Amino acid sequence: MVSFSFAVLFLLFLMTSCAHSQVTSTKPKIISSAWLAGWHTANATPTFDLSNISWSKYTDVYFSFAMPTVKTQTLTLDGSNGDVLPSFVQQAHANGVNAHVSVGGWDGSIYFSTAVGSAENRTQFVKAVTDFATDYSLDGINFDWESPNDQGIGCNIVNANDTDNFLAFLQELRADPVGANLTLSAATGLTPFFDSDGTALTNVSAFADVFDFITVMNYDIWGSWSTAVGPNAPLNDSCAAKANQQGSAVSAVSAWYTAGMPVEKIVLGVASYGHSFSVNQTSAFVSGSSTELAAYPPFDATVFPLGDSWDTDAAEPDACGLLESNGGVYDFWSLIENGYLDAEGNFTSAFPHRFDECSQTPYLYVEDAGLMISFDNAESFTAKGNFIAEYGLAGFAMWEAGGDFNDILLDSIRSAVGLEDECEQ
Ligand SMILES: *[C@@H]1O[C@H](CO)[C@@H](O)[C@H](O)[C@H]1NC(C)=O
Ligand SMILES: *[C@@H]1O[C@H](CO)[C@@H](O)[C@H](O)[C@H]1NC(C)=O
Ligand SMILES: *[C@@H]1O[C@H](CO)[C@@H](O)[C@H](O)[C@H]1NC(C)=O
Ligand SMILES: *[C@@H]1O[C@H](CO)[C@@H](O)[C@H](O)[C@H]1NC(C)=O
Ligand SMILES: *[C@@H]1O[C@H](CO)[C@@H](O)[C@H](O)[C@H]1NC(C)=O
Ligand SMILES: *[C@@H]1O[C@H](CO)[C@@H](O)[C@H](O)[C@H]1NC(C)=O
Ligand SMILES: *[C@@H]1O[C@H](CO)[C@@H](O)[C@H](O)[C@H]1NC(C)=O
Ligand SMILES: *[C@@H]1O[C@H](CO)[C@@H](O)[C@H](O)[C@H]1NC(C)=O
Repeated sequence: MVSFSFAVLFLLFLMTSCAHSQVTSTKPKIISSAWLAGWHTANATPTFDLSNISWSKYTDVYFSFAMPTVKTQTLTLDGSNGDVLPSFVQQAHANGVNAHVSVGGWDGSIYFSTAVGSAENRTQFVKAVTDFATDYSLDGINFDWESPNDQGIGCNIVNANDTDNFLAFLQELRADPVGANLTLSAATGLTPFFDSDGTALTNVSAFADVFDFITVMNYDIWGSWSTAVGPNAPLNDSCAAKANQQGSAVSAVSAWYTAGMPVEKIVLGVASYGHSFSVNQTSAFVSGSSTELAAYPPFDATVFPLGDSWDTDAAEPDACGLLESNGGVYDFWSLIENGYLDAEGNFTSAFPHRFDECSQTPYLYVEDAGLMISFDNAESFTAKGNFIAEYGLAGFAMWEAGGDFNDILLDSIRSAVGLEDECEQ
């Protein structure tokens, strides 16, 4: 009897302490978010559809991508299985998750410049975006322009005034009654947008006023275009040799913060995938060792490795109509499926590996295929989560929700930023 009532009291205490912390906490809610790649929800192997999303673990999800078109008054969902967008929003809302659409992307930034290129076009584009948000009952729009006054995929329209025009557009969007109500964010590079001279803005406070937050895409920092094998998503790089300082979460937060973006408006973008490189045995290992992997080894840039079954870069023309080389991307699930990592996502003794101290990211080497892979695992996601918590960032955004395996990465970063499952929902 005594122990029974004690148990009930204890349970009540647990319940009220969770409810209490939700209601009265002055701590802002940490953003736990990911992008959903619409084109992986069908006709992909494997598919990652709406039923695969761990809704209860997210506060925000970004359906990707809607793209500006040659006509400024429209957005298109072509190539992203837009048919599932209504269900995406409905399921998000049923789970108390904010539903955003990400606009643009690497393949979808061709017509941003003209969409915001004149006062008339900006007004039309505001209407296109607000009509789209209203039609689909969206909570927010995540602008992923890659990148203002900076060529991305190769055939984007670029204008020296892109960044000023983008700001003028965002201010007009904010002044609109529908736009005022939306959560507006931007997926950004490691440095602030380029001004008309092509240099990073030193004052982004006007952007901080219009955006609820920015999601800094801290990945693809090293890849097939680099001069050596380096980290896809480095947490830090100021501890690396000068030549290997190509940017990191640390450098990005510093750059945006110094230019006037409050840390509590910075969401760290994290990657559920890695890049592979063709590296021979001589280069892969530290001289004289057959087990210890070398840091920043050279790779054979003439061989673009095929990544996992989602790597279709060489099979389909890109948005510029060109066939690209293989992407060499391995999603986290595929590292496990290939047996490069065990079922818990841990290293195995079958593949030489290392954890790089400065970037706080793992590497592994597949000797018979001559492949070195830079990726993220539970340990690197924990390090990134600790950084978010320590520096008071707004939260994290993972590209992409479908890259994970059994939520190993998601659970690691959620736990590190202090999101406790017991008190959710
Ligand atoms: C999505 O869920 C299905 C069914 O459980 C599974 O077979 C598939 O591998 C999942 N997709 C991914 C990318 O994890
Ligand atoms: C305005 O949009 C149209 C397409 O609707 C485009 O042809 C034109 O170049 C744009 N104007 C500017 C100044 O970008
Ligand atoms: C940029 O804007 C300025 C001032 O509005 C204008 O004079 C200039 O022609 C524009 N440059 C381009 C490349 O459109
Ligand atoms: C603003 O959002 C609230 C709550 O979601 C909604 O009730 C209201 O209708 C919205 N206003 C406009 C102009 O969309
Ligand atoms: C940054 O720009 C804003 C206007 O957007 C201005 O009010 C502020 O003084 C500027 N800050 C600095 C340090 O120049
Ligand atoms: C990044 O590296 C610098 C230089 O070693 C170090 O002072 C700093 O604490 C590191 N930051 C983080 C977040 O690891
Ligand atoms: C190994 O790769 C390096 C860098 O690509 C190259 O310079 C070297 O010749 C290669 N060695 C062998 C034995 O193929
Ligand atoms: C395997 O990884 C999990 C995290 O996914 C970790 O908790 C566990 O300790 C690891 N096991 C070993 C043996 O390292």
